[in-house]
Amino acid sequence: MNQDQLKQAVAQAAIDHILPQLTAKSIVGVGTGSTANFFIDALARYKMDFDGAVASSEATAARLQQHGIPVYDLNSVAELEFYVDGADEANANLELIKGGGAALTREKIVAAVAQTFICIADESKLVPQLGEFPLPVEVIPMARSHVARKLVALEGDPVYREGVLTDNGNVILDVYNLDIRNARELEEKINNIVGVVSNGLFAARPANLLLLGTAAGVKTLK
Ligand code: 5RP
Repeated sequence: MNQDQLKQAVAQAAIDHILPQLTAKSIVGVGTGSTANFFIDALARYKMDFDGAVASSEATAARLQQHGIPVYDLNSVAELEFYVDGADEANANLELIKGGGAALTREKIVAAVAQTFICIADESKLVPQLGEFPLPVEVIPMARSHVARKLVALEGDPVYREGVLTDNGNVILDVYNLDIRNARELEEKINNIVGVVSNGLFAARPANLLLLGTAAGVKTLK
């Protein structure tokens, strides 16, 4: 199985997980990225079985709409049972690094509202310790240099993701070589730097379920 087939398999596994619990009133939170795109394409086959979706990015909103799935503003939604999204890295505690697609802040917001966060990923994303993938940090543009200096003080090596603006009009610093033994503590420390909008550590709110595509089939971690 190639990587795309593994992503497709976990996307279908997420559908199989949520489908029995969806009602005509359900709204599904949908993430961003290539794995989330497989999920959107699979979800579209069942669009008569639920009301609509909340999107974690403009790209996801556009793809949902292309499939004829209504997209709601999160502010108009009182309850979100499920949020389904990919990740750049995951550990055995279901803590994640996200934001490779620069959608981390909206992803974090939708995940915060959802009762159950289902992370879908191919097996290459499961790591013993987070941090091989550079940690994305969304920053208010005028604070870029200030935040970069503070990240260096945390012994990281920030690199400005040139030419990228987030859906919120901000910039991204990708931070290499961070020591992420305590993901929760580091998530909070980085969020406390003035000028940081959010960072890609999902440790304070980890996933509830990790569906991992492996050559031997989909593995479930919880
Ligand atoms: C986007 C994300 C994605 O979930 C993450 O980058 C994984 O993407 P892919 O499924 O394409 O590997 O956090 O901001």
